[in-house]
Amino acid sequence: MTETIIILDFGSPSSQQIARRVRAAQVYADLLPWDAPEDLVMAHNPQGFILSGAPRLGFEPGVPILPAYVLQSGRPILGIADGMLALVQALGGEVSFAGGRDDGLEHLSVQHPTCLLQAGDNPQVWASFAGRVEIPPAGFEILASTEGDLIAALGDDARGYYGLQFYPELAQTLAGQQIINRFVREVCRCSGTWTVTSIIERALSQIRTRVGSARVLATVSGGVDSSVATALVSKAVGSQLSAVFVDTGLMRKDEARWVRQAFQADLGANLHCVDAAETFFNNLQGITDPEAKRRIIGETFIRIFETSAHNLGDPPFLVQGTIFPDVIESRAVKQRGVQPVKTHHNVGGLPEKMDFELVEPLRELFKDEVRLVGEALGLPPELVWRQPFPGPGLAVRCLGEVTPARVEKLRQADAIFTEALACAGLLTQDEGGTAQAFAVLLPVKTVGVTGGQRTYDEVIALRAVNTTDFMTADWARLPASLLAGVSERITSEVAGVNRVVYDITGKPPGTIEWE
Ligand code: XMP
Repeated sequence: MTETIIILDFGSPSSQQIARRVRAAQVYADLLPWDAPEDLVMAHNPQGFILSGAPRLGFEPGVPILPAYVLQSGRPILGIADGMLALVQALGGEVSFAGGRDDGLEHLSVQHPTCLLQAGDNPQVWASFAGRVEIPPAGFEILASTEGDLIAALGDDARGYYGLQFYPELAQTLAGQQIINRFVREVCRCSGTWTVTSIIERALSQIRTRVGSARVLATVSGGVDSSVATALVSKAVGSQLSAVFVDTGLMRKDEARWVRQAFQADLGANLHCVDAAETFFNNLQGITDPEAKRRIIGETFIRIFETSAHNLGDPPFLVQGTIFPDVIESRAVKQRGVQPVKTHHNVGGLPEKMDFELVEPLRELFKDEVRLVGEALGLPPELVWRQPFPGPGLAVRCLGEVTPARVEKLRQADAIFTEALACAGLLTQDEGGTAQAFAVLLPVKTVGVTGGQRTYDEVIALRAVNTTDFMTADWARLPASLLAGVSERITSEVAGVNRVVYDITGKPPGTIEWE
């Protein structure tokens, strides 16, 4: 059984980051609601528990409390912020909720070094001030305090119970990863088996158990998740898998070729490429409304997919690239009616009611883990590290009517922009890079002059943003020299474009895509 740490989610916005920190310590972590049924939680045979913070617990009725079975399990527990207060209360200590102060940076002074906190650790932490421990429970020692003499960390080494008034999962807590490493590796005694190799082995065996000797169908679009899921299933069941690649004619330069190349070697004759560009363009003729475009593309895709599945003898299993954040989000929606943070764009998606059983080999993985698995499986880096690309493809970046000529114009401009960013090392999400960058073709013509001749041509807008969650975004401050070079190349190399503008709108009030 995989070593597991269970994070009981008390509602903190950073709960997923705790799971990422535990995974970075090479230990599998699952994130479950604080009131998840005991049998579901204990079925994981957790080596330890982490209690997340909460937006604000206070004493109001109905606030999350520490379930009794967690204490009865005898496993180590790390309570973070309000999670610590819940632990202290459950063990008979006293807490108070002053409120009033926002969370913020503090400096920790370690009074009592333990295996969790050490005197030489970087002292900067991001602390919570919503509540405080007044009297620690019996058996606990104060491990560290902040400058205002607040208890910042306390623990009971004998039972492996610890509480932190600060968030080790946040980047502002500079020793955060070390603290999590020590909790899971030293306190919970996990040996660290969650590695890319073990993730792949586990996924392969789960896929084989699930599908047996049945046939499996996958769709590949070049998206990271669906590609890695397909590659895993292909490795697990070989020729039982057939994959359908629908070339919509709305992909970026060279993308369709990459997808073919990436899968041809492994899937061979089981890769079915459908050249559907003509059908998509016919169906989109005369359509300019963004929602109508999405609907038409979605429906066209479904029809083509259904025909392909039927031609392949309707395999009973279908591969889906669902990843861990999607699973957590839908669990929250199901359990508490929480509205999803992300709007899911149902485009390029599949019908809601399907006669397939799903194979979802990435359900336990974060995006960065998916990428590492993809790399380890030998998928090309362009595919594994690519920036997000919307399901409806270039159609929602080709404002106005979507014709083959206009999409080609956009594709060329987009390739010039992306190439310049890649050369400057700005196509990655690292510090100073861009999370998403692309060109948009506008449905307006402007007057220009080329070689002394009047022109009346279309406009390209360049969009580049920095974001981590794609829910909010800031426009990227790209070097003026890069923008100048891109503008020069687009206006001279792309026929029918005589003007280039740069989008300096954040999200909100803009969205990342223009449609
Ligand atoms: P917006 O434009 O809503 O985009 O700020 C947020 C993120 O979602 C992507 N996006 C889509 N993805 N189908 C998709 O699969 C769509 O219809 C769609 N629309 C936007 C967008 O590229 C950005 O990463």
